[in-house]
Amino acid sequence: SVLALTAFGTGSAAALGTHASTARANSAASAAYTVGAPGSGDPYFPYDGNGGYDVLHYDLALRYAPPTDPAALVGKLSGIATITLRAKQNLQSLNFDLRGLDVTSVRVDGKAAAHGKSPGNGSAEWSQKQDDANRFWELTVGLLPKLREGKSTTIIIEYGGNTGRPLDTTGALYGWVTTADGAMVVNEPDGASTWYPVNDDPQDKATYSFHITVPEGKTAVANGLADGRPRTKAGWTTWSWEATDPMSSYLATATVGDFTLANDKGPHGLPIVNAIDAGVTGPALAETKASLALQPQMIAFLEGTFGRYPFESFGAIVDDDSVDYALETQTRPVYSQVADEATVVHELGHQWFGDSVTPSDWKDIWLNEGWATYIEWLWAEHQGTATIPAQFADAVSYLDANDGWTLNIADPGRDELFAAPVYLRGAAALHALRTEVGDKAFFAGARLWLNRYKNSTATTADFEAVMEKTSGRSLTTFFDEWLRQGVRPATPQLQAELP
Ligand code: ARG
Ligand code: ZN
Repeated sequence: SVLALTAFGTGSAAALGTHASTARANSAASAAYTVGAPGSGDPYFPYDGNGGYDVLHYDLALRYAPPTDPAALVGKLSGIATITLRAKQNLQSLNFDLRGLDVTSVRVDGKAAAHGKSPGNGSAEWSQKQDDANRFWELTVGLLPKLREGKSTTIIIEYGGNTGRPLDTTGALYGWVTTADGAMVVNEPDGASTWYPVNDDPQDKATYSFHITVPEGKTAVANGLADGRPRTKAGWTTWSWEATDPMSSYLATATVGDFTLANDKGPHGLPIVNAIDAGVTGPALAETKASLALQPQMIAFLEGTFGRYPFESFGAIVDDDSVDYALETQTRPVYSQVADEATVVHELGHQWFGDSVTPSDWKDIWLNEGWATYIEWLWAEHQGTATIPAQFADAVSYLDANDGWTLNIADPGRDELFAAPVYLRGAAALHALRTEVGDKAFFAGARLWLNRYKNSTATTADFEAVMEKTSGRSLTTFFDEWLRQGVRPATPQLQAELP
């Protein structure tokens, strides 16, 4: 590009850009065809995601039989995944992440591939390798003809097996969690591969179609909007859902249970679909219904602060207590046992902060949890239940009392992704930032962040740059102290709020 600059010194920047990318495409076209990497480079999860391609759309036709023995918690899942993708480099093979399920057939652009040993050597074979110790769960698909950079292909993978109760690296249940009445499906951070072949990289957003076939009487709920009425044939019912907003794989769900669906409407006619499991009863059910009834008001409040709700629909899936946390699955968060008001506004806040604008790498997780926690504070203040200074002071007290300042929340480590300081120090940092730069620059920064990176991913450095832009200040020292240093920052302007 230095040469290009000399040669086209009188051209506009835009013309240079066009020329440079044409040159790049031309040289890539003649470049060798290589294997797609088995990982996409996240430092915490080296074999998650894959290299060399970008998924455009997943069509997942799943058939699921919940456990017959409620004590054993083993279900049967089979699927046909139709994956449309575009090559980002010249590819002779590519990988998908798939964990604990067996592939039975692969077709590439309609042509059957054979199960074989050397998919990477210019053959059309496919093979599977599962290595739990190294967290290496890969399906490799050879491509013949080879796939040229920029070209799209459709790969159809049939697979299946028994489902169980997968654990993340911290020992928490996630992924396709088999429950007595179905499955509770919550993927964060890397549980998607427990139920479909996936490029499990938050940076590779795609649209999804779901067709989930379950025994008649069961309900399957996924992201987006229902595509027609469920269809029943010979004792099996198929539930179809379409998610047309680009989505990271950790935000997909296809939860199955004894759900009752209820429709509601948010601002501007936004469709809201809520699903509550029959296992949610008594006071938990009453509290859940009261919180879910507030969703339209919560959306209106957050739209006033952060701009338009980013997706086509919203709602909740409230399952039993199989998993002890909630997740901001896109358009339709999943809750365990009860949806309390603070958690509902937290998961709603994630639709802007996390789902629309997603961390580029897992180490940037505070951008999700700090904002969602701060949104809980904003809502509580709006409702008149607690002021922001009081909630900030509580968070600081908690962090003081629990050694909470030693964790660098801008790179907390793989097994501290969801540690309390990621949430509380994150929210405290945002409030300190607001105090430092003023409301105008702070909220303008939030909106610039949401607009600039909508349906995309971004890093902590990107966030710092946005806030420096709207405040006109250098914030290097500020962010270093509030996110990274191992001690509580000096907070002259916040002293009055501290205990
Ligand atoms: N992001 C979720 C939340 O909103 C937490 C997910 C926890 N995941 C886990 N595997 N422990 O708080
Ligand atoms: Zn959260």
